[in-house]
Amino acid sequence: MPVKAEREKGNMKGVILAGGLGKRLNLLTKITNKHLLPIFSLPMIYYPIQTLVDAGIRDILIVTGGNHAGEFLRLLGNGHQFGLKHINYTYQEGEGGIAQALGLAEHFADNGKIVVILGDNIIEKDIKKAVEDFRKQPNGAKILIKEVSDPERFGVVEFDKAKRIKRIVEKPKKPKTNYIVTGIYMYDSQVFDIIKTLKPSKRGELEITDVNNAYLERGELTYSILKGWWTDCGMFDSLLRASNLVAKKAAGKK
Ligand code: DAU
Repeated sequence: MPVKAEREKGNMKGVILAGGLGKRLNLLTKITNKHLLPIFSLPMIYYPIQTLVDAGIRDILIVTGGNHAGEFLRLLGNGHQFGLKHINYTYQEGEGGIAQALGLAEHFADNGKIVVILGDNIIEKDIKKAVEDFRKQPNGAKILIKEVSDPERFGVVEFDKAKRIKRIVEKPKKPKTNYIVTGIYMYDSQVFDIIKTLKPSKRGELEITDVNNAYLERGELTYSILKGWWTDCGMFDSLLRASNLVAKKAAGKK
């Protein structure tokens, strides 16, 4: 279906954030981009693309950066292997944070709602239901959260008594819950105005957690709990864990 018709049907666009320098995976990332490293049988970037495609998203932008950005084009081309006609690419200079990378998608989003996934986030199941719910949500944002055993590595969610999100704290030393924000976010077009107001955090980045807290303050942040396993691949142990989980899933399908 042509892109204009997709928009008229209310179909959302997708953004994959695959910038950053992957320093926590040095030396593996010295000679390639983190998102091109293997996860079991496929390059890492294949998984978030498939997650968006499985959710019915056909118009996708990949934000990448670093010294190996050209390799994405060589690997993915126009995305025919995913049944896509075309993939959009843009380049993030440096690694100013997830929210900075997302800011580069403003032109692509064209005032519509978007589904965003971090290039190192891999899931077992699909996000169809959450995407459908967000399509019906009049405005604001939606995040997918998950219970994990090592919440201090992530954006941690705190709830009030009614199980509404009270606040999100990025990498707290003493997490108050085990629920974390996964790297799957859905936003309306206000996101780009919010990003323009952000100040760099202590780690020198524009934080996606600040974006989500801004929606929370407006009373416009909803959430769903992601079903099935979820992992990032930012460190050696999670990179290995991702391959093991994907291998186990593939074995189960045989
Ligand atoms: O994976 C979920 C977590 O991702 C969330 O719980 C955290 O709230 C969020 O801050 C983020 O945490 P990390 O510190 O693990 O993010 P990391 O710096 O590893 O970046 C994750 C992906 O985001 C990376 O694979 C590519 C993209 N990224 C990151 C940066 C810093 C960019 O595209 N550009 C960037 O400048």
